Amino acid sequence: MLHRRIHMTTYNIALIGFGGVNRALAELIATKNPLWERDLGFRLNIVAVSDLYLGSVISPNGLDAKTLVEANFAKGGFGQLSGGSAEADNETIIKTAPADLIVEATFTNPKDGEPAVSHCRWALQSGKHVVTTNKGPVAIAAQELKAVAHANGVHFEYEGSVMSGTPVIRMAERTLAGAEVKGFEGILNGTSNFVLGRMEGGLDFATAVKEAQILGYAEADPTADVEGFDVRLKVVILANELLGASLKPEEVTCKGISKLSPSDIENAAAANSRWKLVGSAVRNEDGTVTGSVSPKQLPFEHPLAGVNGATNAVSLNTELLGSVTITGPGAGRIETAYALLSDIIAIHNAQATAKREAA
Ligand code: HSE
Repeated sequence: MLHRRIHMTTYNIALIGFGGVNRALAELIATKNPLWERDLGFRLNIVAVSDLYLGSVISPNGLDAKTLVEANFAKGGFGQLSGGSAEADNETIIKTAPADLIVEATFTNPKDGEPAVSHCRWALQSGKHVVTTNKGPVAIAAQELKAVAHANGVHFEYEGSVMSGTPVIRMAERTLAGAEVKGFEGILNGTSNFVLGRMEGGLDFATAVKEAQILGYAEADPTADVEGFDVRLKVVILANELLGASLKPEEVTCKGISKLSPSDIENAAAANSRWKLVGSAVRNEDGTVTGSVSPKQLPFEHPLAGVNGATNAVSLNTELLGSVTITGPGAGRIETAYALLSDIIAIHNAQATAKREAA
């Protein structure tokens, strides 16, 4: 299904969900295809979009990304487009769109990962690669979905599910291969880190949470951010990926920041320390892996204590290098869309390697 031209590959993609992240990817496609062709060797062509609110559309020759982003579609608005319908029929779109690759960016369901798990499964079973920033299917069903991908000769990539565009999964697995990761601790939720910083500055909890929502860091339901549930999914993903664990979210102890009072914040500062919401996991002597999420009072000199605002960071504890800290954005529309691009680059490079080896 790949359309080859001289020195150039076009990936036909279908966007499932057209909220902030996939809209940001469409924005990038509208302006950056020429650059990607030149520097990365491929361009992206949107052949289908499906969204619960807007409906769905299939256009085998490709939709104009700029129009998609700029047209202010009302509810069911995709119904006005040629090949469009006011209803979102994700299953049909995923199974029948003439796409090489499905970009899954619907809402995160922390309980069973649905409907995103089904979206990924349908795509992989129909021989389409999947890239996603959705934590639900990765935390809950990564093992199964990787097996389905493997059985169908396609890729399942999810770099953005932990620190949005900041590379942690491939960094740890590829660049640090052989360094032997034994555990990690990280600031993995931008909203709660932002809120703690604003509370240090004297703001009350509720106002700080509202600011994080306005800035677009918070989940649709910010309870997941401040109670640690979002970090818990990220700890599960990293522990399973980097430490070979098979943890389920309910096996990771979880405490958020909502009970921290202004006096807790002041007392920490008086003791040259500050509160951070820390997600961590460690491989124990007996090979088991334990994960936890909890507010911790870190001394100012701790590598995670100086991580401010919505920035994320993770310190990997490695056998051969000691502690390696990766820091960068952990949320944001364009930042998260970049994670999707990085997944597509990884797929493109793997395909190129496979072709060279087959030649
Ligand atoms: N709500 C999340 C955060 C976004 O604040 O970090 C990325 O998962």
